[in-house]
Amino acid sequence: MHRRKFIATGCISCISGGLILSLLEGCSTTKIITATITGADIIVLLADFEINKGNTKEFKKYLVVQNEKLQYPICVYRFDKNNYEALLMRCTHQGTELQVFGDKLQCPAHGSEFSNRGKVENSPANTSLRTFPITINNNQLKISLR
Ligand code: FES
Repeated sequence: MHRRKFIATGCISCISGGLILSLLEGCSTTKIITATITGADIIVLLADFEINKGNTKEFKKYLVVQNEKLQYPICVYRFDKNNYEALLMRCTHQGTELQVFGDKLQCPAHGSEFSNRGKVENSPANTSLRTFPITINNNQLKISLR
């Protein structure tokens, strides 16, 4: 095999493999819930993060939370039992709804990427995502929409 053909074949294989892994990760971990809004808060049960695997308790890294009153869903990341981040899934570039892939949110329109804390990691967006204050109360997350 010629050197150029070998390099081209290898690059295509690597890119394809990475894309497939990224898609699989996105599909396998995304859980979408419809949460209730009480007053100015949207309520998420902590139990919604739990994954039942026999005797061991594991947790989803994030949930996508929706409600018919929300124009965009909210992605809620769980870092540990007392540490969460709620991010509006609206791209700050031109308002396209974001997609979640593991620890990143990506924009299908022009490719912006955001971290699981809402910080811009890839332009053209240059503003962080909107975040919401969270309080933990009685096995619930209260996400303030104010
Ligand atoms: S609308 Fe998201 S990158 Fe342009």
